[in-house]
Formats: sequence, C-alpha cells, structure tokens
Amino acid sequence: MNRLLLSLILAAPALASAAPSSQVAWTPEQLNFVKAGNAQKGRELAAPCTACHGTIGISETPAFPSLAGQLPTYLFKQLQDYADSSRDNPIMTGIAKGLSKQDMADLAAWFASQPASPAAYDSADLKNAETLVTQGDNERLLVPCEVCHGNDGKGQKLDIPALAGQQADYLSATLNAFKDASRHNDVYGKMRLIAKTLTEKEIEELGVYYQDMK
Ligand code: HEC
Ligand code: HEC
Repeated sequence: MNRLLLSLILAAPALASAAPSSQVAWTPEQLNFVKAGNAQKGRELAAPCTACHGTIGISETPAFPSLAGQLPTYLFKQLQDYADSSRDNPIMTGIAKGLSKQDMADLAAWFASQPASPAAYDSADLKNAETLVTQGDNERLLVPCEVCHGNDGKGQKLDIPALAGQQADYLSATLNAFKDASRHNDVYGKMRLIAKTLTEKEIEELGVYYQDMK
C-alpha cells in the first residue's frame, strides 16, 4: 500500500466513536520495538499466564483464548489495549496494567514463537460458515473473512489475528462482544460492523469452523 494512502487511512477517525479505538499506531519505531521482543525473557514472564492460557499458550479452557502462534504485533496490541482500557476485561485489564511495554513485547515474542494449537475436532456440517468465510454475503455487503484473516486462518498484516485452532467458545464470545460493541478496540470499527450483521447461529458456527481449521 502506498505511504500516502496508508497515512490517510491511519488518520481517519474511528467509525463508532470520536475517541480512537486503540492507542497503538504502527510507526516504524513501534514495529521495530515489538519485533525486537526477547522471547526468552517473555518465557519467564509468562509463568503467571500459563494457568489460564496453557503451558505454551495453547488454552485448555474453552473461554480462554490460545496465544501460541498468534501474530506478535496482534498480541502486543491487545495487551496495550487492555492496559489503557481500549479493550475491557476484568481479568486482563488488571494483568496488563502491571506489565511494562518491554514486558508486553517480550511476552508477545514468546507466545508468537510457539506452535499454534492443532485442530482438535472433526469438522461438523459448517457449510454456512464456510460460505461466509470464503465468499462473504453480497446482500449484507459482507466481505469474506478470509480476505483479511487469510485463507489459512493464520492472520496477516500486523494486527489481523490468526483464528485457526483458537477456542470456539472464545471466538464466539469475542464476536458477540464486537456485535454489541462491548469490545471496541478494532481500528475503524471494522469487526464491529461485520459482527453486527451476523446472527447468533452464524457466530456460533464460525467459532467452530475456525477452531477446526487445520
Ligand atoms: C485468570 C486467567 C488469566 C490469566 C492469568 C491471564 N489471562 Fe490473558 N486472557 C484471559 C481471558 C479470560 C481472556 C479473554 C478476555 C476477553 O474476552 O477480552 C484473555 C485474553 C488475553 C489476550 C487477548 C487474546 C486475543 O486473542 O485477543 C492476550 C494477548 C492475553 N490474554 C495475554 C495474557 C498474558 C501475556 C498473561 C500473563 C501475563 C495473561 N494473559 C494472563 C485470562 C487470563
Ligand atoms: C476488513 C478486514 C476483516 C474482515 C473482512 C474480517 N475481520 Fe475479523 N478482525 C479484523 C481485525 C483487524 C481484527 C483485530 C481487531 C483488534 O485490533 O482487536 C479482527 C479480529 C477478529 C476476531 C478476534 C480474534 C481474537 O483473538 O480475539 C475474530 C473472532 C474475528 N475477527 C472473526 C472474523 C470473522 C468470523 C469474519 C468474517 C465473518 C471476519 N473476522 C472478517 C479484520 C477483519
């Protein structure tokens, strides 16, 4: 993308509210800072996280997301968003407030370096979800999910998260949170607009679809 276009987009106001939906801006300095995160240091810092997110970041609890194999830039952004309350969660806000930016970069490097969760279940009949992911829905002006999240579900471009292998319950819960805007840290409100058009059943099926994606 050309620089001018990128800076125009970055300067655009958030859709849903006057306040920016996230304080994280991907300047080259910020990007280099996250890229220089120390995974070994992150591994030590991760000890208190493992009770909920699993030993290497593969969650065994449906409501808790896996972190292993996620984009480091996405993880850093979420920790930062929790710390400044751009994303609210009673558990994570308190934890993130206790971390320095360096800790966040180190933790992001550690979890990103771990292998993502392998799909654990056989695919159920999820034709409708598959259509939404691969084709979207013209009537609702719904862009296929894979345009952004990748056709392997592994995410891309700094802060579009990997979804493949993630806990289905967490995926559905966070989609519902985008739908009712209780989660509002998505830049330009894109995920809120998308989730708003999805039905409860679709959200449930999309969660299972991505959890099962290999
Ligand atoms: C007591 C349980 C608990 C502990 C301990 C915990 N987390 Fe979390 N974490 C959660 C829950 C629950 C969520 C989902 C919250 C939400 O819906 O916003 C979450 C979400 C996250 C997310 C966002 C994931 C995504 O896909 O958007 C990140 C990143 C994260 N935690 C990192 C950490 C790190 C790093 C630590 C340790 C320093 C940690 N967590 C400790 C429960 C926990
Ligand atoms: C225009 C690009 C775009 C499209 C299309 C898109 N997403 Fe997203 N999605 C994003 C971005 C960017 C984020 C990260 C928001 C943030 O910074 O917290 C995200 C976050 C998510 C999350 C939260 C993941 C986590 O770990 O917390 C889920 C779940 C999700 N998207 C599901 C979907 C589904 C299902 C579709 C299709 C119906 C879809 N997305 C279509 C850009 C997109």
